[in-house]
Amino acid sequence: MSQAERADRFALYERAVQEPAVQVRVVEDLFRAAHGRPPADLREDFAGTALFARTFVEGDPARRAWAVDLDPAPLAWARARGALERVTLVEGDVLDVGPPAVPAVDVVVALNYSFFLLAERAHLRAYLARAREGLRPGGALVLEVAGGPELQERGEEATDHGDFTFVWDQVAFDPIHSRARCAIHFAFPDGSELRDAFTYEWRVWSIVELRELLAEVGFARSVVLWEGPGADGEGDRTFVPCERAPAEEAWIAYVVGWRAP
Ligand SMILES: C[S@@+](CC[C@H](N)C(=O)[O-])C[C@H]1O[C@@H](n2cnc3c(N)ncnc32)[C@H](O)[C@@H]1O
Repeated sequence: MSQAERADRFALYERAVQEPAVQVRVVEDLFRAAHGRPPADLREDFAGTALFARTFVEGDPARRAWAVDLDPAPLAWARARGALERVTLVEGDVLDVGPPAVPAVDVVVALNYSFFLLAERAHLRAYLARAREGLRPGGALVLEVAGGPELQERGEEATDHGDFTFVWDQVAFDPIHSRARCAIHFAFPDGSELRDAFTYEWRVWSIVELRELLAEVGFARSVVLWEGPGADGEGDRTFVPCERAPAEEAWIAYVVGWRAP
């Protein structure tokens, strides 16, 4: 059996793509700045294997989280990790979940640009409205967003992780509809490859579109957290409120919608 045939694509994804410690810190800091305490509970939408939710509850034994995904496969994978007493896995559509089935929380997150999967304005708007209903007064919706001209370029970028290579493949971009087709492949030292381990059809939403929609569905205000430059210009993984930003080739930011207290 080749290494690709033996591979666990969810485990590889978590190692190659996700940075839950950075994301948890961003969420704790922004909520603490507004309320003087970190969030007590949250909901992770488009959760996949719920790595963010699992990392969040590890930070304090009193924390609770709900993790929502349409696909039972990553949820089953997460369940098999065990230790999920304080993370409730919910198989469902983010357009439907919320109170009363899933209680209102301090923070709702949609990370790694996963809301780019909602390509129609009406769908994204409905999602943002539903997410707002899932927040307590004073709660925050945290959208992790990516952009920059590099996102429109075709081609593959490989990152070596020692026992495997992560390949990010930007297959196509349509500037008329702002649609991107992307894929993740994994390559292994024995020469085998897991192609199209994950594939995405994205609508690449801009920050200004997101903020307009947040205001339309009733969020009291929105804030953009932009990454600090760092010594090497690669970004320092700290994110601070900004209203002006440099035109970088590729960037990641957080758009935060606050529900009125
Ligand atoms: C790119 S993964 C995100 C994984 C992880 N949250 C992260 O930050 O990397 C996107 C996930 O969204 C799920 N998804 C797509 N549309 C959805 C919807 N309408 N409701 C709930 N989950 C959805 C997919 O099943 C997939 O697991």
